[in-house]
Amino acid sequence: MTSQTITAAAAGTFKLGDLTVNRVGFGAMRLPQHGEAFADDAVPRDRDQAIRVLRRAVELGVNHIDTAAFYFSPLRSANELINHALAPYPDDLVITTKVGPGRDPSGQWLAHATPEQLRGQVEENLRQLGRDHLDVVNLRIVGTDSIAERFGALAELREAGLIRHLGLSNIRPHHLAEAQSIAPVVCVQNMYGIGASPEQKEFLDLCGERRIAFVPFYSIAGAGRTAGATTDDSPEVRTIARAHGVSAAQIRLAWTLHQGSHVLAIPGTGDLDHLVQNVAVGSLRLSEEELIALDPLHHETA
Ligand SMILES: NC(=O)c1ccc[n+]([C@@H]2O[C@H](COP(=O)([O-])OP(=O)(O)OC[C@H]3O[C@@H](n4cnc5c(N)ncnc54)[C@H](OP(=O)(O)O)[C@@H]3O)[C@@H](O)[C@H]2O)c1
Repeated sequence: MTSQTITAAAAGTFKLGDLTVNRVGFGAMRLPQHGEAFADDAVPRDRDQAIRVLRRAVELGVNHIDTAAFYFSPLRSANELINHALAPYPDDLVITTKVGPGRDPSGQWLAHATPEQLRGQVEENLRQLGRDHLDVVNLRIVGTDSIAERFGALAELREAGLIRHLGLSNIRPHHLAEAQSIAPVVCVQNMYGIGASPEQKEFLDLCGERRIAFVPFYSIAGAGRTAGATTDDSPEVRTIARAHGVSAAQIRLAWTLHQGSHVLAIPGTGDLDHLVQNVAVGSLRLSEEELIALDPLHHETA
């Protein structure tokens, strides 16, 4: 495959409300630092390289970028890098951010935002990204408590025109039902990849039935989570990777895109080669046999 043929449009598109995006997007969490995200000793990413990665992503057709104001290392902020690299923003670029968690300037995590504090977090994203409204804002939660008050606060900001569309992150099905009784939900961003449980797959399918985008995170990193990609892929993943002449990381990503046409990938990287490989995954087709070979891994680790 030549670089000319690599485009984020190859896996098709899906709609976030009225905004159409290519199914292969980009996650900005890896841009501010090398190695583990949010680590106390995080080594800041080279600024020029981070900017090159963002611009190359857009050149390759990426028009869906996931970010957060709390994606920063001592010297780099994902939102500032996005603003510098891409503003004035292309008309078709959709920037999705998330609120709920917060970090103080030293990087310490703060308690999750109250409904009142959510407005401040939305405004912080507006300032950093240099926008007068945010395309998509996910309420990122922890736990099983009601989200009615917090989601209601974001619904008011949507009514006020500060936010175009709302989504949810790290949620369970009952949260989706609660939120949908308050305002439209365009996406659910949950951890998902090879090894996800059958319950997580059921939830992914439920989102598809409701025409809600399912946006998996840690599809490549898996159990490595904030630490990043591991190399202990199963023999099945490695065999299929060899057969296609691609990496195990690409197979992990491809598998998520095969879970439904409403799945939007947001692989995170600060590496130009990895970026190109991830965008190329949009044109990687796994056979029924390959999906069947990967399926038991899905249930074994449930
Ligand atoms: N809502 C939430 O709670 C939540 C939580 C976590 C993340 N997110 C979002 O989801 C996005 C995706 O998650 P993620 O960035 O953690 O995970 P990921 O895309 O699953 O994996 C990223 C890790 O894999 C490496 N990598 C990326 N492409 C690769 C490739 N082609 N080959 C080998 N290694 C590769 C990256 O290192 P290199 O930089 O060296 O490529 C990094 O270590 C984030 O960027 C963020 O926007 C959301």
